[in-house]
Amino acid sequence: MDEQLESYITAHSDAEPDYLQRINRATHLRLINPRMLSGHLQGRFLSMLCRILQPKRILELGCYSGYSALCMAEALPEDGELHSIEIDDELEDFIRENLASVSFGKKVKLHIGDALEVIKKLEPSFDLAFIDADKRQYSEYYELILPKLRPGGIILADNTLWDGKVAVPAADKDQQTKSLQNFNEFVAKDERVEKIILPLRDGLTIIRKK
Ligand SMILES: C[S@@+](CC[C@H](N)C(=O)[O-])C[C@H]1O[C@@H](n2cnc3c(N)ncnc32)[C@H](O)[C@@H]1O
Repeated sequence: MDEQLESYITAHSDAEPDYLQRINRATHLRLINPRMLSGHLQGRFLSMLCRILQPKRILELGCYSGYSALCMAEALPEDGELHSIEIDDELEDFIRENLASVSFGKKVKLHIGDALEVIKKLEPSFDLAFIDADKRQYSEYYELILPKLRPGGIILADNTLWDGKVAVPAADKDQQTKSLQNFNEFVAKDERVEKIILPLRDGLTIIRKK
């Protein structure tokens, strides 16, 4: 998105809460690839969507520093829970530090492991799932999550426009682009769900199970 327009939008939307500004800064100082974090605009969108939908059980694939998990956990009721799966065990201490910085962080249940394995062990049913882990595995995540989602439940899939690369025809695509193209094609034709791709940040697909 054009930088001037993004500044305008963020200036006229809810501010990034102080605790998230701290996590955002710490992520930039301590981790590589801090651009992976959802950030101000998408974070406020996740939080707003959860306030509207009022999910009680949320599943997240790809915790990283805990930013998006906490955005969604902000809106959870007292007895709500968010299961977040992260494969990189070196992130665990940092994530737990960030979760402990706010009272509602205790609603986030962190699972260190491969999402493809951990999802199978989690009890159904979920009201909302946020897919933001390995871009090459979105189709596998989707098939594992869908049976664990209640009818009317929502899957959010991040980065589905992949910097616009999914829309450009080229023979020598990298694996991540190819996998995201396959995922987008499959979901578009899948009659079990309703779907729309929002051009928010790097593309966010909203999928509703019928
Ligand atoms: C884009 S980052 C997540 C950002 C986070 N959701 C946010 O918005 O703040 C992707 C994360 O997925 C993790 N990841 C990659 N493959 C995974 C897998 N198979 N299972 C669980 N986590 C995985 C990576 O280690 C990385 O921390």
